[in-house]
Amino acid sequence: MKVVHSVEDLRQIRREFQGSVGFVPTMGALHKGHLALIQNSKRENDHTVVSIFVNPTQFLPGEDLDSYPRREEADKKICEIAGVDTLFMPKISDIYREDEVKLKAPEYLGYILEGHRRPGHFDGVVQVVMKLFGIVWPDRAYFGKKDAQQLRIIEKMAEDLFLPLKIVPVETVREDDGLALSSRNVYLSPKERQKALSIARSLKRASRLVMSGELDSLKIKDEMQNMMSEIEVEYIEIVDREFRPINRVELQNSIILVAARVGKTRLIDNIWI
Ligand code: PAF
Repeated sequence: MKVVHSVEDLRQIRREFQGSVGFVPTMGALHKGHLALIQNSKRENDHTVVSIFVNPTQFLPGEDLDSYPRREEADKKICEIAGVDTLFMPKISDIYREDEVKLKAPEYLGYILEGHRRPGHFDGVVQVVMKLFGIVWPDRAYFGKKDAQQLRIIEKMAEDLFLPLKIVPVETVREDDGLALSSRNVYLSPKERQKALSIARSLKRASRLVMSGELDSLKIKDEMQNMMSEIEVEYIEIVDREFRPINRVELQNSIILVAARVGKTRLIDNIWI
């Protein structure tokens, strides 16, 4: 595996690749969710590039940019074992310049739900992802369905800007007890982790309700809220695949989303119906 720090070196390696290139952008602290992205890329491409870059522009003032878990050496080993061909680990000054061209997330998709709670977050995401696409120039790029809104915004960016690549959604990976994997799970104390399980359980319950014929969004959300009484729920929302709220669940076209704080940790999760 080649570990590359500069944009120029990555570009040089990219020019030498023959065949298709799969790309997995990450912020590091890799877990099994990232491994699933890497495995999908390896299966579908001749080369897999992973980037690790904790992107400052997608963190709001007061968020966890400084404390975000950084585990460079462990991450390198994980990538090596997973069979990554090239690991790109740029510095902030390699990626960002002064007074640069700025991308903005779509006005609706970028400013509801996560975008409403974290205004500007998705502007930072599209800015860095577009830059990384410009550097890596992948045929396919892999994103987890756990960050459903991010995934849709990046798909839309690729559509709107006519980018010659495919965005590939990858299923959420969960612990055996249902907790969705996230780099932020390390912040949870054992007690908080136990409480956090109510998020996945409420989503599972919601999916069972739908399967048994209950399609009324309000009723489903009420049940979910009751199941998460021990944590601070920020939102429970039922939307279609364009993220428009719906009063009745539509099979094959709905996503049920939750954001909640457990202690100081903010977690998101969802289920696609
Ligand atoms: O999902 C993430 O880890 C980040 O938002 C991403 C896509 C790597 C951009 O910094």
